[in-house]
Amino acid sequence: METRPLIFDCDPGQDDAISLMMALAPSDTPLDIRAITVTAGNTVLDKCQRNARMIVELCKRTDIPVYAGCDAPLELPLATAEEVHGSEGLDGVEIFEPALPLQAEHAVDAIIRICRTVDNVLIVPTGPLTNIATAFRRAPDIISRVREIVIMGGARSEAGNITPSAEFNAYVDPHAAAEVFATSVPKTVFGLDVTHKTLIRPDHVKKLGDLNNYMTDILVPMLSGGYAEFDAQKFGTNGTPIHDACTTAYLLRPDLFTFRQVGIRVEAESELTRGCTSVDYWHGTDWDRDCQWAVGADADGFFDLMVERLALYAKL
Ligand code: RIB
Ligand code: CA
Repeated sequence: METRPLIFDCDPGQDDAISLMMALAPSDTPLDIRAITVTAGNTVLDKCQRNARMIVELCKRTDIPVYAGCDAPLELPLATAEEVHGSEGLDGVEIFEPALPLQAEHAVDAIIRICRTVDNVLIVPTGPLTNIATAFRRAPDIISRVREIVIMGGARSEAGNITPSAEFNAYVDPHAAAEVFATSVPKTVFGLDVTHKTLIRPDHVKKLGDLNNYMTDILVPMLSGGYAEFDAQKFGTNGTPIHDACTTAYLLRPDLFTFRQVGIRVEAESELTRGCTSVDYWHGTDWDRDCQWAVGADADGFFDLMVERLALYAKL
């Protein structure tokens, strides 16, 4: 299990929310989460930051500060995905205004402050990379201090899920993705190639429901509505990907995944292929091979871990 200090950067969104539920579970050996920073993506920033605070409050982890960051990509207008996540960005959850306050500090300033004062920080982005790229632009000195970036984003052998060539997070802010992937920070990247191998099927949802605890009562409706049906119908699969949960699963059980060491670059200028992640799988370029590209997953082990983490909420 990961013991280094963590910053989760997200755009909740159901799969971000489930990833956080797994990460924040009341374990005897909790992950060292220093901040949850939020960017616009699945929906607008105001709703993403509220959703993040809702999830942290529902997880009863109000010890973790939540910061709002960038409300639009570096250079392009914001594209959102309410058709997938619902008008509030969290279909299936009863929306409320959390008591947990939003931190006054901007997420980018918080990322810079933490990276300058804490050693061995891991950043775990599961949305567009705008906050991370902005922090690196504003404080290049922190780039060498970040130990690893564990990213949900990109696609190689799978087609894009928002355009034929691009995965959503990379598509929304391709300039930010291009800049982050061009840094020498070691990256672990969970693209659609592997998130589409860890589908949560209706029988899985029933097993989660059978846990019958405080959190699964919240989780099951999230996986029983539009979000669960959207990808299953779009890709003709029996189940839906919980993309972002692969990052938390990796932090807890890296052995669940297999990787290939590659260099990755992101298309930012072409309108047709904006956000395409060019994964140098056969090492044909001179790009630094600073990315662990996830190629395989133990799907049963992934689901068992999800059950294990959600079962911890029986304590609450
Ligand atoms: O393409 C899937 C990714 O885009 C996930 O992170 C989902 O939450 C959306 O942000
Ligand atoms: Ca996300």
